[in-house]
Amino acid sequence: MKRVITYGTFDLLHYGHINLLRRARALGDYLIVALSTEEFNWREKQKKCYFTYEQRKELLESIRYVDLVIPEENWEQKRRDVKLYQADIMVMGDDWKGKFDFLEEEGCEVVYLPRTPEISTTQIKKDLHK
Ligand code: CTP
Repeated sequence: MKRVITYGTFDLLHYGHINLLRRARALGDYLIVALSTEEFNWREKQKKCYFTYEQRKELLESIRYVDLVIPEENWEQKRRDVKLYQADIMVMGDDWKGKFDFLEEEGCEVVYLPRTPEISTTQIKKDLHK
């Protein structure tokens, strides 16, 4: 069984997220999503989530491509996660290109998928603000 892991905030879930999750799951048989906690998001990205961690987790768990949701609490946990969850592939959108190549040292393939154009949580927030 091939296990895939991906990381993100997935706030105001949109079709760019679904596209990413569908393609990530298609690379293997089991998809783990490490979901940023509100604390991590605020501390590291100065971004305030619209939905709580529990709400975002429930949304992700109801998607057919997602098998397991775990918390993302810091930048350092990735090495531990790929070992603990025996991830064969780590997937991210290509806005993160090159950033996580060090996981190859753990025997985990790192794949950057092209982002879906013209949609993001930030864009949705901006558009609704107008
Ligand atoms: N993603 C994607 N295509 C998009 C938006 C996001 O493939 N149009 C991917 C990201 O590359 C990442 C995952 O979805 O691998 C989660 O991204 P996240 O940062 O939570 O979503 P964004 O919409 O990019 O949020 P923000 O605008 O706050 O950065």
